[in-house]
This record gives sequence, C-alpha cells and structure tokens, in this order.
Amino acid sequence: QALKAVVLVGSLRKESFTRKIAVAMRKLAPPTLACEIVEIGDLPLYNEDLEANPPAAWVKFRDAVRGANAVLFATPEYNRSIPGCLKNAIDVGSRPYGKSVFGGKAGAVVSVSPGALGGFGANVALRNTLVFLDVLTLQQPEAYIGNVKDLLDDKGDLKLDATKVFLTKFMTAFADWTKTIATR
Ligand code: FNR
Repeated sequence: QALKAVVLVGSLRKESFTRKIAVAMRKLAPPTLACEIVEIGDLPLYNEDLEANPPAAWVKFRDAVRGANAVLFATPEYNRSIPGCLKNAIDVGSRPYGKSVFGGKAGAVVSVSPGALGGFGANVALRNTLVFLDVLTLQQPEAYIGNVKDLLDDKGDLKLDATKVFLTKFMTAFADWTKTIATR
C-alpha cells in the first residue's frame, strides 16, 4: 500500500507556475507515494483566540496533514521568503502548542520562480522553519526551479525531458525518504 503525501502550494492564483510544477511532480511520483494537493487558500489567518472554537477549515486542514506520512512544500518566492498564505498554513498546522501536525513527518521543498535564482531565498527560509517544526526534510536533491516560464508548454505541462528526468529523480528520492521516515 502506498504511503501518503500532502502537497501544499504557496500560491493562490489560478495560473500559478508553482501549482503547475506541483501538479507535474505529483504525476511523476512513483506508485509507492500517493500525492494529494491540499488547498490552503480558505484558511482564516492564524489567531490564537480562535483556538477555543477553531474554524472548520483549520480542523479539516489539520486532519488532512495529520493523516499523511509526508508533506511536499511547493513555494514561490515573495520578497526573498515564502508567501504569507503558505506561512499561515504552516502556522495553523503547528498549533495548538504541543499538537503540531508536522512533527516527525517526512518533508520536501521545491521552490519555483520565473527568475533565474529559482526561489532560493524562499527555499532556505522555509527549510529554516521546518527545522523548528521537526519536519524531516529531504536534503538532496534540492529543487530550485528557475526560469519556469521556459519549462511549461501552453497547456501548463512540462516541456523538456531534462525537467521530467530531474523531477522524477526528486520524487523518487522523496518517496524513498518518506518510507525511511515512516518505517523507522
Ligand atoms: C514576487 N516575485 C518574486 N520572484 C522572485 O524570484 N523573488 C522574489 O523575491 C519575488 N518577490 C515577489 C513578491 C511579490 C509580492 C509577488 C507578487 C511576486 C515574482 C514571483 O516569482 C512571480 O509572481 C511568480 O509567478 C509567483 O509564483 P506563482 O504564483 O506563479 O506560483
């Protein structure tokens, strides 16, 4: 039976390059890892006052992450860090104190940008947060997807064999890593 990964996409726009890459990666995952995108756009901004009666969207999100073996974080770069929507989802999942849904899970990060640096700043900023949350994040290969407009065709599918080969390798490493963490 396949292990489960949730995919969190740090962009809310319909034509998001990051989402297109995440969708492609989901399809390139080996059958040992079932990947499912979990939406984060409807999560109310984190406010500890709401914990007394948490919003339904928080509860649903927390349950979805809790039920998975791994989390793939697909992020654009906003001002050299991750977008607020993704940070909010991480904050929501990390609370209440002592009840984080992330601790001990396998993780992986892919950053995406139309620019040449591939969202490097977002990638490292996110990894820093994942250390604190005890997400056991895949270290290699790293995935900085730069110049993303050149990698997608009109339908939003991957255009180049080199990208497919690299992302297949990445997803295979992530699946193997998830198994290592889930069975330790
Ligand atoms: C950006 N963008 C951007 N790009 C980058 O490479 N480094 C950065 O620091 C930023 N900063 C930034 C801030 C804000 C507020 C916006 C809206 C955009 C450009 C960004 O990479 C581009 O809009 C992508 O298309 C966003 O990803 P999605 O939505 O296509 O997935």
